[in-house]
Amino acid sequence: MAVDGLLLQADGIHAGYGKLEILHGVSLEVRRQELVSVIGPNGAGKSTAFKTIIGLLRPRSGRILFDGREITGLRPDQVLRLGLAYVPQGRIVFPQMTVLENLEMGGYIERDPARVREALERVYALFPILAERTRQKAGTMSGGEQQMVAIARALMTTPKLILLDEPSLGLSPKFVTLIFEKLVEMKRAGYTMMVVEQNAAKALSVADRGYVLELGQNRFEGTGQLLLTDPEVKRLYLGG
Ligand SMILES: Nc1ncnc2c1ncn2[C@@H]1O[C@H](COP(=O)(O)OP(=O)(O)OP(=O)(O)O)[C@@H](O)[C@H]1O
Ligand SMILES: [Mg+2]
Repeated sequence: MAVDGLLLQADGIHAGYGKLEILHGVSLEVRRQELVSVIGPNGAGKSTAFKTIIGLLRPRSGRILFDGREITGLRPDQVLRLGLAYVPQGRIVFPQMTVLENLEMGGYIERDPARVREALERVYALFPILAERTRQKAGTMSGGEQQMVAIARALMTTPKLILLDEPSLGLSPKFVTLIFEKLVEMKRAGYTMMVVEQNAAKALSVADRGYVLELGQNRFEGTGQLLLTDPEVKRLYLGG
């Protein structure tokens, strides 16, 4: 373990799609036990940054270190096995499968059934509603419930770090509040997280630290409180 508790360090990442470069030197860091929020306008490259960190995209340059080793260029399954889980934008669940089957799919890299049961118990403690709905087909659940399934599935590997891309996107206000409460509960339970969020003010208010990305570059960074009260950040990203 790094002395300073640094768990993830993405340094000077250049990445994109085909010939198109989207990230022009983005740097993001997460320390153990932190909740880090990443905000920024549509198209800023937030999802692209997450996709590059977890290995869906290969960076053209820059380095990604996770838990003391270099993961630049590794595949998503290799990164997952090292303890880095990812909840993609769009609350993707297996709609025809039950809640339990979705969770079991999340734990597929775990061979030991006892450890799968332990992981299930931890997940149900955090999301009691899923314990009551184990046999319900995920596709028949509400949007907010499906997002809980998607998050819970990522927790089945007991990751060291979870990247969540827009967990509250498209949810009703009640579920937006609930998802943010869950993030706070997860942090309290010891999980380390980095979250991309459209709900910038809410995301910064629960975060230890935050980043603002714009046009594929770092624009601002600091503690959640600092960013929330920064006049420039307020004017540009928090609606006044
Ligand atoms: N698969 C792709 N192929 C080509 N271009 C893409 C692809 N995915 C994203 N882009 C482009 O990359 C840029 C950044 O997109 P990205 O999804 O990373 O932004 P974002 O900050 O997550 O935005 P949003 O807030 O809308 O989710 C956009 O211009 C987008 O059109
Ligand atoms: Mg996105």
